[in-house]
Amino acid sequence: MAAKPVKITDTTFRDAHQSLMATRMRTESMIPIAEKIDQVGFFSLEVWGGATFDVCIRYLTEDPWERIRQLKLHIKRTPLQMLLRGQNVVGYRNYSDDVVIKFVEKAAENGIDIFRIFDALNDVRNMEVAIKTVNRVGAHAQGTICYTISPVHTIEHYVEIAKKLAELNCDSVCVKDMAGMLAPQPAHELVVALKREVGLPVHLHCHSTSGMAMMTYLRACEAGVDMIDTAFSPLAWGTSQPPVESIAAALKGTPYDPGFDMVRLNEIAEYLRELREKYYDPLRLINPKSERVDPSIIIHQIPGGMFSNLLEQLREQNALDRLKEVLEEVPKVRKELGYPPLVTPTSQLVGIQAVFNVLSGKRYSIVPKEVKDYVKGLYGKPPAPINEEVKKKIIGDEKPITCRPADFLEHVLDKIPDDVKPYIESEEDKITYALFPKAALDFFKKRKTKRKEAKTGIPPERIMELEEVAAVSVAVATYLRSLHGAKALIPVRAKETISPWVLAGRQSLAERGA
Ligand code: CO
Repeated sequence: MAAKPVKITDTTFRDAHQSLMATRMRTESMIPIAEKIDQVGFFSLEVWGGATFDVCIRYLTEDPWERIRQLKLHIKRTPLQMLLRGQNVVGYRNYSDDVVIKFVEKAAENGIDIFRIFDALNDVRNMEVAIKTVNRVGAHAQGTICYTISPVHTIEHYVEIAKKLAELNCDSVCVKDMAGMLAPQPAHELVVALKREVGLPVHLHCHSTSGMAMMTYLRACEAGVDMIDTAFSPLAWGTSQPPVESIAAALKGTPYDPGFDMVRLNEIAEYLRELREKYYDPLRLINPKSERVDPSIIIHQIPGGMFSNLLEQLREQNALDRLKEVLEEVPKVRKELGYPPLVTPTSQLVGIQAVFNVLSGKRYSIVPKEVKDYVKGLYGKPPAPINEEVKKKIIGDEKPITCRPADFLEHVLDKIPDDVKPYIESEEDKITYALFPKAALDFFKKRKTKRKEAKTGIPPERIMELEEVAAVSVAVATYLRSLHGAKALIPVRAKETISPWVLAGRQSLAERGA
């Protein structure tokens, strides 16, 4: 059989740490190993987008745009890739077209070569502006299909979406199995159908959640898949991607052997293994459960992130004993809402509605604004029609929109408030502000403080240590507060003497409810 090496994308600097360690990896941890990763021969490195943008400004006081520029300095051979949520860009709602267009232009200018573009509802209209802009700036547009299981999600359905993506001149098609539910045989059938009917290179993105991904990849290779996604072993498995070393070794002697140098892979893995220890988190922001395989997802179909959100919401309401009912309610709500794939932001919508339906005792008696907007069509067109009765309960006689949701949105990039203007230093800052107004302003202010701090000369390696100290002191203070209910118990002296970095770290942990 003729050699047909499978091309491999490494997700260590994006999806892997987003899946396993709450997206907390800092640029300074990536740089020392970047050049070595660049030498492996990956098809691309997914390093940006998804939650990384949000987390950079909200929790790391890092400029996400600076991260691409830094990585680009060290990664010269391998294309850099990002995950773009279509009209949602890197946020959780639809943005106006000017934001989408400018974001793509600036991302490409700063160093992104491949844009993986998806929409939670697989509504191609929500990807169109992004795809066209990527085409115009001459980057690689990868149109994406979110994989899920439902009576309407057939092979034909997926092929139809892929054909629309091809019509928009996408350079490749990605099948995004965010929940790790794609089994080997359906993967084979899907890849064969996409290759035959659409004719574009097919890229498969699986998560190891259910434990099937390695077998799924092998069957996909046999079906002619062009690219697959992996992560280095210290950041692989569980809710992340399968490990690159194991895959490279397993494919030796097959036509799909990517031909990677195993010693080099191992050297990189060693660096990342040590790095993981540094990020070990006493407050368990990094959830050890997400590192393990959980085949129960095959039955309940609830992705890991959504599952922990449900637990969190029930804990807040002191209703953990209702978990079983909520788990049974999720598929009902999903069906009634037209079988949306469970991915950000639809997973949150379905989850919160299921919790309300169970806790209120009367289904759809309480409906959050986001779910109302969804039913009004403001997220796009659901894969199947929404149940009429449920629709009536939620929006009454109001008619849902049938056009593209962003058609209603006014341009915002030039509407920076006067009090924010002094903080804007670049075109990129304007985009950051348009995406997350409140978090961006906080970030701009912290950035100023951080620069001052930099002048006082605290070495960067001390930062992480100091943050750990802060994390522990927050834990102690929170515990004491829970005992005595007094805010004054936060150590006052520490507050005065600890650097702004530590305070920023403490604040971010507090925001996460740690
Ligand atoms: Co993913």
